[in-house]
Amino acid sequence: MAKRRPLILGNWKMHGTGSDLAEVERIDAAVQALGVEAGLMLPATLIERAARRARAVAIGGQDCHAAAQGAHTGGVSAAMLRESGATMVLAGHSETRAGDASSVAAKAHAAQAAGLAVVICVGECERSADARALVAAQLRASLPPGLDRSRAAIAYEPVWCIGGSAVPDAAHLARIFEMLRGEAGEARLLYGGAVDGGNAAELLALPGIDGLLVGRASRSADDFVPVLEAAA
Ligand code: G3P
Repeated sequence: MAKRRPLILGNWKMHGTGSDLAEVERIDAAVQALGVEAGLMLPATLIERAARRARAVAIGGQDCHAAAQGAHTGGVSAAMLRESGATMVLAGHSETRAGDASSVAAKAHAAQAAGLAVVICVGECERSADARALVAAQLRASLPPGLDRSRAAIAYEPVWCIGGSAVPDAAHLARIFEMLRGEAGEARLLYGGAVDGGNAAELLALPGIDGLLVGRASRSADDFVPVLEAAA
């Protein structure tokens, strides 16, 4: 299958306060200049201010509640994110995944109903010879019925790579992404876990990988622009 236009997403996790909005502006300027498709998944507290500043980079949330509203202290609904200016949201990142994958499907459903593009995250917890089967089962349980795959992405993030310094070898990624392509229909497929400016181009060149989900290396323009350049 021909390579599609890459999608590069940054996930700031629980980092960033108002003073970091200058980085959003620098990243936004680079996204505009390079003409790449990119988004920043920000802490909920920054979304509205970042969305007002962003011209080219999409602004998204890192998680949402499956319910539209209710007695869920600390919860943020998909509609609340949308109202704040988010256009996308992660569902099921390993740092938010609790309980079974059906709760991820419920969040993804809520996100889509609120008009957000959804990025469903999957990934095995530790190195395993059964990773392909484990991730396939996790993905099937995480996809909500009626998902509009043309607006959705699936991010494969092996938990054993997140926060580390190495990515899986090309043979492992080929096995996983071949399976994901069969399951995901037209949804875009992203890789995440220890991505940086040094490995982004190589990852994007691998068959089946349509984009990247970047943690640490997305929090400053100095680190993120080289990743964006790899996609330009
Ligand atoms: O969502 C991105 C993430 O979990 C990967 O983090 O810091 O290994 O790029 P990092």
